[in-house]
Amino acid sequence: MIFRQLFDSVSSTYTYLLASRHGGEALIIDPVLERVDRYIQLLRELDVRLVKAIDTHLHADHVTGLDALRERTQCITVMGEQSKADVVSIRVDDGDRVDIEGVSLEVSYTPGHTDDSYSFILADRVFTGDTLLIRGTGRTDFQNGDPRAQYESIFGRLLKLADETLVYPAHDYKGDTVSTIGEERSFNPRLQVKSLDEYVELMNNLRLPNPKMMDVAVPTNMRIGLAQGVVADRGWALSADDVRAMLPEPDVALIDLREEQERKKHGVIPTSLHVPYPSMQASLRSDGLLRRLAETDRKRLVFYCAYGERSAMAVQAAQAAGFVTARHLHGGMQTWKQAGGPVIG
Ligand SMILES: [Fe+2]
Repeated sequence: MIFRQLFDSVSSTYTYLLASRHGGEALIIDPVLERVDRYIQLLRELDVRLVKAIDTHLHADHVTGLDALRERTQCITVMGEQSKADVVSIRVDDGDRVDIEGVSLEVSYTPGHTDDSYSFILADRVFTGDTLLIRGTGRTDFQNGDPRAQYESIFGRLLKLADETLVYPAHDYKGDTVSTIGEERSFNPRLQVKSLDEYVELMNNLRLPNPKMMDVAVPTNMRIGLAQGVVADRGWALSADDVRAMLPEPDVALIDLREEQERKKHGVIPTSLHVPYPSMQASLRSDGLLRRLAETDRKRLVFYCAYGERSAMAVQAAQAAGFVTARHLHGGMQTWKQAGGPVIG
């Protein structure tokens, strides 16, 4: 596995880059805006293609690099179901998986630092965000933080992982880079409590100053969605009603760009075909399904996804490939369901 731990010295943030092979797909966890150039350079140097960018929670101490990476690499942005971010490409929930080629992260909901804090688990390691830090735990005094929830997340979940599991947090202020679950259980001073109440008492009396960047970072990190209006202004967006009216037409190919997990959970629009977003570009090239549909079968391609981000990027790619009749469902499945559109499965 290709694994890189990158550090932003201004906010003491760790960012993680994972891929299974050179020439393959990559994902990044907790990217920092000011470091995006470096990530892009490293992706190029390692010869990997960024497919997903994840934030473990809505950060208060730095501006996320999620939207900048999406703009520059057309990757999928991922956050938890509870995130206050306006739009991300995929929202995950406890028990879901975040997959790229050769890497599959288990999604674990670990609230407490914030109510949208998630941890991401691999066989030998866990990315704990700000839930569990090295010899510390994330503060619980803003952004719907809750020391009780954090106690449950740590004692009820993270500390149940095998002792040798490597702990990779989102921050460290002392220069430590990695720990293990066993080490944290034994030596993390915050975890040497005898009860939930003792932990709550400890966390409620930390009296920490607010992070320097908080007033800038939080509102900025809540506005990371792709500007779908730009795509609409070019005439490439369709409303749920538009798509519904087109459904019986034989010259329309409705393309679902979501992943199998999302299709199972939220259902699919009847008659739609499935081309997962990461394979969309290849499918538009010679001999791909999308090219055949558009070129040979003369179908109008209509893309949709969960919230309209992947489909907005796909319609731009299809237009760039010369398929001028390509459109996408503005707002995605969310809008479709709100409009009462039919769903199967
Ligand atoms: Fe945080």
